[in-house]
Amino acid sequence: MLAAGKGTRMRSRTPKVLHLMLEEPILYYPLKAARDAGFGDVAAVVGCSGEAVESWLKDNFPDAAVIWQHEQRGTGHAAKLAQQWWSGYGNVVVLAGDAPLITPETLKRFAQKHIEDGNDCSFLSFMLDDPTGYGRVIREKGGVRVVEQKDAGEEELKVREVNSGMYIFRTDALAAVIDDLSCSNAQGEYYLPDALALIAAHGGRVAAVLAEDPREFLGINDQIQLAEASRVMRDRIVLSFMKNAGLHCMDPSSVWIGPKVKIGGDVTIHPSVQLWGETVVEDGAFIGSFTVLRNAIIKENANIKGSVRLNDSTVGPRASAGPFAFMREHAELLENAHMGRFVEIKKSLVGKDSKVPHLSYIGDTEIGEDTNIGAGTITCNYDGVKKNKTKIGSRCFIGSDTMFVAPVEVGDDVSTAAGSVITSRVPDGALGVGRAKQTNIEGWSARRRKKPSEGKA
Ligand code: UD1
Ligand code: MG
Repeated sequence: MLAAGKGTRMRSRTPKVLHLMLEEPILYYPLKAARDAGFGDVAAVVGCSGEAVESWLKDNFPDAAVIWQHEQRGTGHAAKLAQQWWSGYGNVVVLAGDAPLITPETLKRFAQKHIEDGNDCSFLSFMLDDPTGYGRVIREKGGVRVVEQKDAGEEELKVREVNSGMYIFRTDALAAVIDDLSCSNAQGEYYLPDALALIAAHGGRVAAVLAEDPREFLGINDQIQLAEASRVMRDRIVLSFMKNAGLHCMDPSSVWIGPKVKIGGDVTIHPSVQLWGETVVEDGAFIGSFTVLRNAIIKENANIKGSVRLNDSTVGPRASAGPFAFMREHAELLENAHMGRFVEIKKSLVGKDSKVPHLSYIGDTEIGEDTNIGAGTITCNYDGVKKNKTKIGSRCFIGSDTMFVAPVEVGDDVSTAAGSVITSRVPDGALGVGRAKQTNIEGWSARRRKKPSEGKA
């Protein structure tokens, strides 16, 4: 996997292959395609901002070998630096880290053809109406070679068949010519495609395998191409859930789903929804508009009513959230629980059948079963130094605007009076009242209204 390039045209400090496409780095896609195609061990050639690429690889493709190319002297030079690694195998596939749309099906067919035809080198080519910038595939005298745009003659530039930059070499054939590549060309670089002519000159079999769909080879060089490739990948993912899992989606062009997301059967997604990371949506769930889920688990028949944001959190079976609700840091609603309008829940567990319907903040809290939390309730979890826990039992009725000053615990079957500040334990079955007693001052309003005129008189 060639991934050492700078990507100057991205106009960014982030190395090109780590730019995000549907919230995964561009490099994730060709690595995943190679793995899904059943290719064996992988090595990545890294260079520009290579530390970042290497550390991402360590976390995400820990088996991938990392080969450093400190100075980018061309694709041929990159292949040469990896020679010690690939010489241990019979064949080596060369892919580009910035071409994320290649499919495992195309790679599989490509590898099959290479083996069946007994080629020493095969490379994928495709047709473009405007081939500007690509190496042209020149078929002549029964052979085939590639000439780069900057080195091509007038006639060669007219050729519309181009090199994808994806190759399979018999390693013995590549080893025989790799030291003969030269950099006396328009870019002063060692070109890997020059190996094709050299292998042919040694009597090797070189073949261009023409692929059907040019979109698989869209290389990413700038932000506009990144957006374009993201749309293609988005369509592939969303339409495949619609086709294979019966996803009901009235406006697929406004729904964005990352490549690691899993979706069950009979799921409905309304327009303008984003599902990212390792989100899982189980059978029969509903996801309303303007919802953004990251690493969320939505259990069967759960109802995400719209404008909901969940990070690393779980909504249980038949539970519901929103509209306008936010959950984060491993918050969980258990079966048939509910969080409603303008509620934030952090690192908390809401028990089966319990409800937090309106305008609440629940943090570092455990709530039992069948408890109702009144509007405006807040768990005051932060004392300015650390976060403290609140525990609320089962079958409780928490009055509106209760403040739980954590650490604090209330038992089962507890009620709290509306507006209470609860600072100490409320035992099972008790009513907790923590507010000033009301006093009424008779006739006060009328006296206040009269006051100014009385003063003048
Ligand atoms: C290359 C091919 C061209 C083909 C095109 C398809 C060469 C000389 N030309 O051109 O025939 O049509 O791809 O997109 O190979 N890289 C390294 N180290 C280097 C140079 C490049 O790792 O020293 C990596 C880049 O990060 C990139 C890939 O190799 O992922 C291709 O390099 P790039 O410079 O983009 O080659 P192109 O000019 O696009
Ligand atoms: Mg390129």
